[in-house]
Amino acid sequence: MTETVFPEGFLWGGATAANQYEGAYNEDGKGLSVQDVMPNGITTPPTEEPTEDNLKLVGIDFYHRYKEDIKLFAEMGFKTYRTSIAWSRIFPKGDETEPNEAGLAFYDAVFDECLKYGIEPLVTLSHYETPLHLSREYNGWASRDLIGFYERYVTTVFNRYKDKVKYWLTFNEINSVLHAPFMSGGISTPKEELSEQDLYQAVHHELVASASATKIAHEINPDFQIGCMVLAMPAYAMTPKPEDVLAARHFENNNYLFSDIHVRGEYPGYAKRFFKEKIINIEFAEGDAELLKENTVDFISFSYYMSAVMAENPEEYNSGEGNIIGGINNPHLESSEWGWQIDPVGLRIVLNDFWNRYQKPLFIVENGLGAKDELVEGADGELTVEDDYRINYLKQHLQQVGEAVKDGVDLMGYTTWGCIDLVSASTAQLSKRYGFIYVDRNDDGSGTLNRYKKKSFDWYKEVISTNGESLYK
Ligand code: BG6
Repeated sequence: MTETVFPEGFLWGGATAANQYEGAYNEDGKGLSVQDVMPNGITTPPTEEPTEDNLKLVGIDFYHRYKEDIKLFAEMGFKTYRTSIAWSRIFPKGDETEPNEAGLAFYDAVFDECLKYGIEPLVTLSHYETPLHLSREYNGWASRDLIGFYERYVTTVFNRYKDKVKYWLTFNEINSVLHAPFMSGGISTPKEELSEQDLYQAVHHELVASASATKIAHEINPDFQIGCMVLAMPAYAMTPKPEDVLAARHFENNNYLFSDIHVRGEYPGYAKRFFKEKIINIEFAEGDAELLKENTVDFISFSYYMSAVMAENPEEYNSGEGNIIGGINNPHLESSEWGWQIDPVGLRIVLNDFWNRYQKPLFIVENGLGAKDELVEGADGELTVEDDYRINYLKQHLQQVGEAVKDGVDLMGYTTWGCIDLVSASTAQLSKRYGFIYVDRNDDGSGTLNRYKKKSFDWYKEVISTNGESLYK
């Protein structure tokens, strides 16, 4: 018995980010980005210059192999494909007045290739790849100057791709700047030396830039759909103790702050109270308040990997590993090989929470399992990966997505993270694989870069072709 759950036109697909898979880090005029000096992700401080051990310099060489890769996405039946534009390909240093034509031409070719197969591009404007020059010379988003540079960049790409791209995301996981200020916000002041005043001021700059991008986008093409993108993480209380429940709420507010401003156009009361108590004074320039209020987003997108557990006194409990944000270990959940706790029901919860709070369309733009894969010979003699663990993970999550849709949530689509293996953001490893397509490249940089379809490739293809009905077989 199959079930019709997912709406017609549901945007099934996969997601990537330029810095994690393009490679060609200094080709055709590209400038350096913060990622080019992060050989170990967020686990060690940045290096002075790019170093050979940085896997992102070559990535999986999508820059030269995009036709082959997009063909494979089309074979899976992708309706949409999420990627990002590397800001430093368009404005190599970030503060120039004229863009780099070769960079613009590359994304023309990528989007044309997608459109050739009827795949709708979904484009992140800034995905952890602030031009390094803006980080070193201006201290990234800590400086208000970044707003103007970002406006110039987004105006350029909106104009250039106005007939090719409809769906845009302003900043990847915008709330992650609180936890990874260099990777997320290009802020070169080391995290431990960065004051909360400067950090939240940087947040304000990004929020203003996001609203400004939304305004510019709608002026350039009223059909554009602009989304915010947040790292979503529902928080559970460790016990029914009201103080633990409150701790969970406070944790969630740290994330809601970002979507509240994007959707409602103003700072919520709990944020104002927090700033007052911490003696943080957010400096508003003239017009900021109106800009935020008048340019709210069309939809809310988010990544979902895990839930969190909070308590009034978290030090009393064992802590778990996390993506960028950690928390207390949840004894009811299993963990991935990287210690990320697996919680499909949490995805249903977070979808309902967002929907109940905002009644705006939602889009899951990242979800997936980072796991070690082994390349083996399949029944047909071709090399493959028997990744039943990944299929199980995705199936369980998608079934919960289905439950949320049945709950009445308006969901636009679902793109799995790293639909083709790429370099991890947090650890910069290639062995932490998410893809339906295996890429032969190892953590030491060796490998042919050849692509192989995993077992999950055909599984996802069937999910898409049946619009999710195969999940219920
Ligand atoms: C999200 C990011 O935090 O999680 C991606 O938007 C990232 O860039 C993904 O790759 C998975 O994290 P990781 O550290 O396993 O690559």
